[in-house]
Amino acid sequence: MAKKKIRLALVGVGNCAGSLVQGIYFYTNSSVAEEQGGLMHYNLGGYEPSDIEVVLGFDIDSKKIGKDVSEAIWEWPNCAYKIGDVPFMNAPVLKGPVLDGAPEHLRHYYGKDYFTVDENHPPVDVAQALKDNNIDVILINLPTGSYEAARYYLEAAKTAKCGIVNGIPELLASDKKVAQGCMDAGVPILGDDWKSQIGATIVHRALAKLFEDRGINIKKSYQLNYAGNTDFINLVMRGETKHVTKHDAISSILKKDTPIAPGFAFVDNQGDQKTARILIEGTKFGGAPVRLLLHLEVEDSPNSGGISIDAVRCCKLAMDRGLSGAIEAPSSYFFKHPPVQYTDDECRELLEDFIAGK
Ligand SMILES: NC(=O)c1ccc[n+]([C@@H]2O[C@H](COP(=O)([O-])OP(=O)(O)OC[C@H]3O[C@@H](n4cnc5c(N)ncnc54)[C@H](O)[C@@H]3O)[C@@H](O)[C@H]2O)c1
Repeated sequence: MAKKKIRLALVGVGNCAGSLVQGIYFYTNSSVAEEQGGLMHYNLGGYEPSDIEVVLGFDIDSKKIGKDVSEAIWEWPNCAYKIGDVPFMNAPVLKGPVLDGAPEHLRHYYGKDYFTVDENHPPVDVAQALKDNNIDVILINLPTGSYEAARYYLEAAKTAKCGIVNGIPELLASDKKVAQGCMDAGVPILGDDWKSQIGATIVHRALAKLFEDRGINIKKSYQLNYAGNTDFINLVMRGETKHVTKHDAISSILKKDTPIAPGFAFVDNQGDQKTARILIEGTKFGGAPVRLLLHLEVEDSPNSGGISIDAVRCCKLAMDRGLSGAIEAPSSYFFKHPPVQYTDDECRELLEDFIAGK
């Protein structure tokens, strides 16, 4: 019997999408995964990374439309860390509707041009394109704050009966009404907002939990993130939803109401390298002070690739099992703002049970 594949459409062919595409070709066999690491699962419920077939991309950038995904992922302003070469994939990038995906600050910022919106093609009917190409799953990697665009692609996926993986801080899977809508349409949804492989959120969660478990009274905590990619321009200019997902990701697993402040800055020459400074201040035995200041440097986009490669496969597993609506276990492990928050140990166990079909 032919091995089952996952026909994937990329919504937004930016840095995160580019990292995933490169990763699919990087992890061509299990020995690469064993030698190089970087994956949480090589075989996930019967699907290997190379079983993900990127069939289509949707974007609005004039430099990406009409190209193959294998070419579009290298176009400026994409600047993701290079994992490896990608062969021609025969996966065209189609023009989607612009909606709120192209605010002025993403086109020009501090005297530099980032992208121009394609004017040469009318937007395609996304639901029809998904149907025509037998897409199983769509992967949303739109700019933060794309409220309308995210919902447009969500509706298109429901119409075309595709599973939805939402990597951005738009509350979809974690919104009861949206999740119910997906349930009614018979499609699974996973989200919201990547909890990166080793990023500021998961490190901050683990440390804050450790402090609390050891009896420390956390008085103040912040997380300052900076990088030089378009995501960070956008987080500075319209990052309200990311403030919510980051804050909730940490405060939700603590017993006490704890002041947690996320912050963002754009530092042009940092490219895709993200730095996070995490502060936790509190008092311990006898009211004595304790202060932790941590410096973390990561390549930002592979950090989402290491999660999306599993989330897409979990979404297809849910479809294979006839599940619909918000899929809680993988959402809680892979995303900052899932329908239900668990500690990372708990959701890791729930995830493994989900993959095993328990
Ligand atoms: N890097 C990480 O680890 C990480 C973690 C959590 C969440 N995220 C989120 O993932 C999302 C994507 O990040 P990125 O770094 O890939 O951003 P990016 O700016 O590199 O890519 C976004 C892409 O979406 C395209 N786009 C804009 N409007 C569109 C529309 N209407 N239709 C189709 N395409 C459209 C842009 O042209 C661009 O190619 C962001 O919301 C970010 O916050 C990333």
